[in-house]
Amino acid sequence: MVLPFKSSEYINRQERLFAELPESSVLIIPTNDRKFRSNDVGYPYRANSYILYLCGWEEPEGVFVANNKSGSWETILFVPPRDTKKEIWEGKRIGVDGATTWPVNATDSIESAESYISEYISDSHNIFTTLGVSSIIDDMLNNRDDITDPRAILDPMRRIKSSREIEHMQEAARIGSEAHIRAMEVALPGIGEWRIQSAIEGYFMDCKSQWSYPSIVGGGENGTILHYNTNMSEVNDGELVLVDAGCEVHGYASDITRTWPVNGKFTDPQKEIYELVLKAELAGIEACQNGSTWVSIHTATSQVLAAGLIELGVLDCTLDEAIGDPVKFDGPYRNFFMHGTGHFLGLDVHDVGGGRQGDDGKGPILEPGMVLTVEPGLYFGGWRTDVEIPERYSGIGIRIEDDILITEEGPVVLSSSCPKEIQEIEMIVGTGA
Ligand code: GLY
Ligand code: MN
Ligand code: MN
Repeated sequence: MVLPFKSSEYINRQERLFAELPESSVLIIPTNDRKFRSNDVGYPYRANSYILYLCGWEEPEGVFVANNKSGSWETILFVPPRDTKKEIWEGKRIGVDGATTWPVNATDSIESAESYISEYISDSHNIFTTLGVSSIIDDMLNNRDDITDPRAILDPMRRIKSSREIEHMQEAARIGSEAHIRAMEVALPGIGEWRIQSAIEGYFMDCKSQWSYPSIVGGGENGTILHYNTNMSEVNDGELVLVDAGCEVHGYASDITRTWPVNGKFTDPQKEIYELVLKAELAGIEACQNGSTWVSIHTATSQVLAAGLIELGVLDCTLDEAIGDPVKFDGPYRNFFMHGTGHFLGLDVHDVGGGRQGDDGKGPILEPGMVLTVEPGLYFGGWRTDVEIPERYSGIGIRIEDDILITEEGPVVLSSSCPKEIQEIEMIVGTGA
C-alpha cells in the first residue's frame, strides 16, 4: 500500500504537535472501533481522522502512541499482528513488520498496547488522548481526570491544508463534479431518486472512490428536507431535484450540491428562487478572502437572500427587519434559510474548526490553505405548519454548494467544473437518459 503523503509530511505534522506538548507526556491516538450494522455484518470501516492525519494508518485496531520520557520523542504504532486463521476470513493484514514502513520509530502488536500504555501512563505526568473513540482506550483511562484532549492543538493544524492535501481535495471535487454531471445526464421525468443516487455513487466507484456522506437526492418537496436521504421517491415532471453528494479521496472529502429540474427546464418560480440562491452563493464565495472573518461569508449570503425575499414579495419588511439581530441572524428570512452558510472541509465533511467560535462571535479568520463550503439555500416546504409558505414557491427547495480554497489571490472553487448556471444545466439534463 502506498501512503497518500510522503513520510516527511507525517513527521512534520507529528513534530508540530510534539512542539506544543510538555515534558513527560504520553500521546495516545487510537483509531475508531468497528461498528456493526446488524448481527455480525459490519458497516464499511472508516479509520479515525486523527490517526490518518498523524501517520496514515487506515486499518482497524491501530493505536499511535508517542512519549518523550527519554527526553526526545519516540513514536510507536500498534497494529493487528499477522494471523493466517483470521486473514483467511477477513483479508490480509499489514502486520507488525509490514507497518515498519509507516512514519513511526517502531511498530508492535496491538496485543502489547495495553501493557505499554499502562507503563507509560503510570510515570507520565501528562496524558493526551481523546476519549470516546476506542473502547479499549476508554476502558483503560476512563476513571482518570488528568487527561487532556490533543484536538485543541491538532484541529488548528488540520484546518490549514498542505499543497498535497489540496491535491487530494481537488481530485475529490473533480470526481464529485463529474458525478453530478452524470446524474443530470441520466435524468428524465418520473426518474426514481435512487437511480440518480446510483448514477452518482456508481461514478464514485468507477473512480475508485466512495461517498463521503450518505447522498441526499430529494425530488420535489423532499428537497425541502435538509438531511433527507431516503431517496426512494419518484421525481415528477416539472419538479426539481436537490442532489447533495460528495466523495472521498485518501480520506479527503468533497461536498457538492446542485438543484435542477428533472425535465430539463426550470419553471419561472423555480428560476426566480434558483437565481436568488445562485446570487447569494456567488456573494458568499466572493467573501472567502484571506483575512476575512468566517461570519462575513454568512453575512454576504444572508444579505442577498433577505433582500431577494423582500423583492419577490415573500417578506414584507425592511432588510434590517428581515435579517434580525446582526449577530444572531434570527430574522424572518431564517424561515426559509435555516442552516449555516458552510463549514470547513477536509478529512471530515464537517471538518474541524467550523462555526462562529471566538469571543467576538465572528469565528476564525480565513487563511490561505483553508477549505470550506459555501452552501446557501431556500426551502419552501408546503407541508410545513410553522410558517406560511407562499403558493408560488410551495414545494421548492434549492441549495447550491461548492468547495472553496482560500488563497492569497482570492477564492478558488475546487468544484468549479460542476455546472450551476441555468443555461448550462438545461443543456445537460436528460442528454444521456
Ligand atoms: N452534505 C452535508 C452538508 O452539506 O453539510
Ligand atoms: Mn456541506
Ligand atoms: Mn452538502
